[in-house]
Amino acid sequence: MNQEKVWWKESVVYQIYPRSFKDSNGDGIGDLRGIIEKLDYLKDLGVTMVWLSPIYKSPNEDNGYDISDYQDIMDDFGTMHDFDELLSEAHKRGIKIIMDLVVNHTSDEHKWFIESKKSIDNPYREYYIWRKSKAGVEPNNWGSWFGGKAWEYDNASDMYYLHIFAKKQPDLNWDNPKVRDEVFSMMTWWLDKGIDGFRMDVISLISKVKELPDGDTHGGLYGDLAPYCIHGPNVHDYLKEMNERVLSKYDIMTVGEATGVTIEEAKKYAGYDSGELDTVFQFEHMDLTNGEHGKWSNKRFSLLELKKVFDKWQKGLKGEAWNCLFWSNHDQPRAVSRFGDDSHQYREVSAKMLGTCLHMLQGTPYVYQGEELGMTNVRFKSIDNYRDIETINTYNENVNNRGLQPEIMMDYIYHVSRDNARTPMQWDDTENAGFTTGTPWIKVNDNYKKINAKAQVNDENSVYNYYKKLISLRKEHEIIIYGDYELLSPEDENIYAYIRSFNNDKLLIICNFSKYIMNFEIPKELKGKEAKMLISNYPEEKLADNISLRPYEARVYKY
Ligand code: GLC
Ligand code: CA
Repeated sequence: MNQEKVWWKESVVYQIYPRSFKDSNGDGIGDLRGIIEKLDYLKDLGVTMVWLSPIYKSPNEDNGYDISDYQDIMDDFGTMHDFDELLSEAHKRGIKIIMDLVVNHTSDEHKWFIESKKSIDNPYREYYIWRKSKAGVEPNNWGSWFGGKAWEYDNASDMYYLHIFAKKQPDLNWDNPKVRDEVFSMMTWWLDKGIDGFRMDVISLISKVKELPDGDTHGGLYGDLAPYCIHGPNVHDYLKEMNERVLSKYDIMTVGEATGVTIEEAKKYAGYDSGELDTVFQFEHMDLTNGEHGKWSNKRFSLLELKKVFDKWQKGLKGEAWNCLFWSNHDQPRAVSRFGDDSHQYREVSAKMLGTCLHMLQGTPYVYQGEELGMTNVRFKSIDNYRDIETINTYNENVNNRGLQPEIMMDYIYHVSRDNARTPMQWDDTENAGFTTGTPWIKVNDNYKKINAKAQVNDENSVYNYYKKLISLRKEHEIIIYGDYELLSPEDENIYAYIRSFNNDKLLIICNFSKYIMNFEIPKELKGKEAKMLISNYPEEKLADNISLRPYEARVYKY
């Protein structure tokens, strides 16, 4: 089953966060025509699919993850005509496009919600999750994932509506069959336009436990809603229905953002026989840096734990489902800053090592815009320079309400704020990194003179050209896609090494995650055998039974 050939297993996906990718008209905001301008860049890199973060009409409380019209384009980004052109120009270059599908919630400016709010007998009332107060307070004690309470009071009806995210992102009521009809017909409309699939935003949250019980406060202010909303009672029924009524009719790829997913759950969502989705994102490797304030921390990950997570997923899904491979996305810090070393000395070499380690695993790799350049986290001096609602809300709550020292909170922000990934793409060394001729909506990282696409495309030793080679290797060697995975030296704290096997071939992948020289012994079965080096981030050295790896060195051998 693992070796069953499917096109999306062979793809490399590039994630575009349109607001920060390329501005074509000087208003400081990236847009669809900007993406069209850069399609040749993506084709040269070799990626075969693009995941577009939301481009629908939105008041932008959460940068497009709050949608007010699913069948129209955000004014900042352009028009439906621009979209159609983008789709056909991408297809001409052999690049598929998958769209972000945000249907756990809408914007409070969506016409369904505007109607829903009008009165308790409005036909749209039951599109959302409304409840009466309990003993004069909120229906339960849940806290929103973006800070504060998860309930918002509505004066007119003297009731509250649920919002797991911001107030302006009311949760849809998936138990209402009309909601499912609307969502499915909207999806059909996009698929009929010719898009190639969906990335489904927080899809594991769409079904809530009916009674909406109080959550554990874990000693904090608010109750934890996770046990009552993640993988809720009907989520699999709803996704099976979606598959039957919509997805199964098209040759597309779907990937669910499955917050909180375990191996067992992943197989339910995306097992080869699940009849739901093709793949899911799991987040265990992202959670390795969590601390006492949840994701807000300055902790460094441990390689032993990272290997355990990857090993578990590589083995756990074997033959039954397919992995998604990613170091970063628009909600996470930059890969090289978090998992590599973004100092002047090691940034390039460690970015290449990370790319090697990830792209040689079994699964479909995702490249987040700028990762192919080794773009880094940003350190704005003041909270006023940040734009992300989660970052701002959490800063206010922790510093203003709970008395956390601002310097500590800023340090957490430098490590994990979503804005690290959202600073503009660094195209060249001209003002604002060539992203815009106007004033960018969020400041550019001031290292753009050194780190930018223009310089890297023309430099054969750049991170860009290394990624390009990684991607092209995938097209030449089936073993990279379909080979089995076996972990070597699980107890090694600095080296991540593994073997892939396919028919009679083997790949040996060795990655030094430290800045020190590390010794590695070739496994017995391969000792003395001849091998060809497929790729490395250092000049080639002769293969020996005992090799000493230079700082952040990565090597891939084919036997
Ligand atoms: C997902 C998105 C994130 C968004 C949230 C609410 O986690 O990736 O950017 O804020 O859902 O839609
Ligand atoms: Ca623009």
